[in-house]
Amino acid sequence: MRFLRRILRLVFCCSALCSRAQSGEEKLSVPRSAVVYFSHTGNTRTVAEHIAELTGADLFEIKSLTQYPKAYCPSTHFVKKEIESGILPEIEPIAVDLSDYEVIFVGSPTWWHHIAGVVQRWLLDNDLRGKTIAPFNTHGGGGLMHCNEDVRRLCPDSNVINNLTVYEDGDFDLDSSILNWVKINHLQSF
Ligand SMILES: Cc1cc2nc3c(=O)[nH]c(=O)nc-3n(C[C@H](O)[C@H](O)[C@H](O)COP(=O)(O)O)c2cc1C
Repeated sequence: MRFLRRILRLVFCCSALCSRAQSGEEKLSVPRSAVVYFSHTGNTRTVAEHIAELTGADLFEIKSLTQYPKAYCPSTHFVKKEIESGILPEIEPIAVDLSDYEVIFVGSPTWWHHIAGVVQRWLLDNDLRGKTIAPFNTHGGGGLMHCNEDVRRLCPDSNVINNLTVYEDGDFDLDSSILNWVKINHLQSF
């Protein structure tokens, strides 16, 4: 029985490595695209970097002027108060000319069921009319929650597609999830 379990584990690891290697070889160029993201603990950054690598998109990070606590519980309390205040955080300006881009990948951690206030602020501050917005969120178990609705509400004149929703940093099948999402939404042909 123990031997059988070892064999099964070996087969699983090999197939996981193979699928990673296969997706690692594949790329899908998305012309005139940018990835714009905010990340507090690194998960959304990892996904953003993989999207940029696989699609050839330019990568931009939104930085908050608010210093969020590093530790998990204090940060959740801090953000809850920020949400209750109804005031979105201030952000550092990003040097990006949006007229260069047709497709904007927008990434956020899920914070209290929604996209982070930092990303909400960026969406409100920028003219995204007529652009295709490809939102992605990372989460700690809640899944999509209100993350797609948020982007649609804040970008009523954009073509907002369905989210890529990733648990934490996506693990070994991240690249294949990204490639499937790009293909299903025909982002290569924009
Ligand atoms: C303030 C705060 C609120 C969070 N709220 C949720 C939530 O509502 N649902 C969920 O699934 N995960 C929640 N999480 C977990 C994060 O969404 C998850 O760890 C995410 O991948 C973090 O992304 P980052 O590393 O790019 O910051 C929360 C984390 C923090 C810090």
